[in-house]
Amino acid sequence: MEKTMVAVKSDGIQRGLIGEIIHRLEKKGFKLIAMKMVKPTEEMAKQHYIDLKDKPFYSGLCKFTAAGPFVAMCWEGQSIVKVVRDMMGETNPVDSKPGTIRGDLCVQVGRNIIHGSDSLETAKKEVALWFKPEELIEWKSCMEGYLYE
Ligand code: RTP
Ligand code: MG
Repeated sequence: MEKTMVAVKSDGIQRGLIGEIIHRLEKKGFKLIAMKMVKPTEEMAKQHYIDLKDKPFYSGLCKFTAAGPFVAMCWEGQSIVKVVRDMMGETNPVDSKPGTIRGDLCVQVGRNIIHGSDSLETAKKEVALWFKPEELIEWKSCMEGYLYE
């Protein structure tokens, strides 16, 4: 099974959307493996968005992220990296289809409420950045046989 890193950003937290985002991933059939609320250091925020370091919005993005709070999660499921990205919608909510998280719940690119790893390789790095190995809780879901054949 694949793992991905999902976060509710501070705008999503302020808007009371932690439960909605968790609810959508749970209803889909994905399994929550780890979760914590943090106020990221600027160093953690910079590391998290390191691939964007040459973008003009990088500094502002890292400052906004470090201002916290930030709910970091690890979720598990089949093809979860791609499916969560599809469930999130496009980076810019203007381009996100109704039915997606960003399409339904937010309006502007800099306040797009949710983060999700964009590839399997990124997911591995991000899970390792936010969680110690012992914080990833491997548990057997009683629904497994009804989600997977
Ligand atoms: P995320 O990493 O947060 O899941 O978002 P993403 O993959 O959809 O988009 P990415 O390109 O990784 O950008 C990270 C976050 O930076 C902000 N952003 N602002 N002003 C801009 O043009 C701009 N572009 C991106 C967004 O908050 C985006 O989620
Ligand atoms: Mg990204």
